[in-house]
Amino acid sequence: MRSIRLSERLSRLTPSATTALGGKVAALKAQGINVISFGAGEPDFATPDAIKAAGIHAIETNQTKYTPIGGPAELRKAVADHIGADCGVAFTANQVSVTNGAKEALFLAFLALCDAGDEVIIPAPYWVSYVDQAKIAGATPVIVSATAENGFRITAAQLAAAITPKTRVFMLNSPSNPTGAVYSAAELRAIADVIKAHPQIVVMSDEIYDAIVYTPYARWLRVAPDLIDQTLVINGASKAFAMTGWRMGFVVGPQFIIDAIKGIQSHSTSHTSSITQAAALPAYDGSIDMSAEVTKMVQAFRQRRDVIGELLSSIPGITLNVPEGAFYVFPDIRGLLGKKLACGVTCTTDDEFAAAMLEHAHIGIVSGSAFGAPGFVRMSYATSMELIREGMARMSKAIVG
Ligand SMILES: Cc1ncc(COP(=O)(O)O)c(C=O)c1O
Repeated sequence: MRSIRLSERLSRLTPSATTALGGKVAALKAQGINVISFGAGEPDFATPDAIKAAGIHAIETNQTKYTPIGGPAELRKAVADHIGADCGVAFTANQVSVTNGAKEALFLAFLALCDAGDEVIIPAPYWVSYVDQAKIAGATPVIVSATAENGFRITAAQLAAAITPKTRVFMLNSPSNPTGAVYSAAELRAIADVIKAHPQIVVMSDEIYDAIVYTPYARWLRVAPDLIDQTLVINGASKAFAMTGWRMGFVVGPQFIIDAIKGIQSHSTSHTSSITQAAALPAYDGSIDMSAEVTKMVQAFRQRRDVIGELLSSIPGITLNVPEGAFYVFPDIRGLLGKKLACGVTCTTDDEFAAAMLEHAHIGIVSGSAFGAPGFVRMSYATSMELIREGMARMSKAIVG
């Protein structure tokens, strides 16, 4: 028996289904099997050249030392102005901390805000890390399920019913991973009116997919500027500027929370890479114009969304809410459960369905259960049109023959 034990907090964690899928796909590929993965959580585009050049310049000019905790003032000011303009409010550099991706921004925010027993309201379907990060912080996730019928958006009434005196955080993610759902201004305002009556609640608005929308985008603080003192905006360069590996994220909000977050950073990661910070600066201070690159990417994603949406909807037993943002579709496969598929398998759950598609169609998809929504699957269309068509043909053949 081992004398060394792991910390108790690990027992609360759920392994990431998207990472698990990546492992299975890699194992099949190693056997020479041509697997098409719809698992990617990142744009398939390269980081724009101007950003790469700024990163190379940073290395060549020795910008390779420690920076201030949470990023240099110049970068924090650029982010404050950029996000302030998006949200229609004024932020100062002291209201920003730059982090190792949006993921660290969220984690630090949970650590700064939550103690054991505190409750974090998370709408489902949810991005998996919200739940596990809240748990690591000692908090209790309170899951509120949004239905497909309601466009995967929870209602203000559902939120009101979930709030207790222990509620510390409401997690908002629009556009959503995994559903691509985007809340309307009216829906956000109704939610804001509920939150307003509870001044102890912080809204963590994860806007990481804000650049990838196919509908007019209602931004939380534009709709609820009266809740600025109760809001943390989380965002970053990973999706908008195809910079996932660089680790460039940030959190913007009330200075006393940002100071607390920097306090944790000062004893943990200090800051994201100095090279990453230098590379991202021109994208945020406006010295390079990213709009053409972003528009090109969004146009490509929109075409792919339309194609994958049409192909999925043509399969009997599958229904789809057309996503209005991000690069995921979240089809309802409940109509296929309990029925014998053309590949000879009868699935009773979405987990079994995802496994059957990997085995018989050689396509990688993630079960909805992993996102708190059994009966659905998530497919990322951040892959080429050619692979989308080929993967969908395989899926259709495995289901209907
Ligand atoms: C909803 C959501 N929030 C945050 C993140 C984290 O982004 P980053 O790569 O900047 O840490 C992701 C990444 O997949 C995401 O889907």
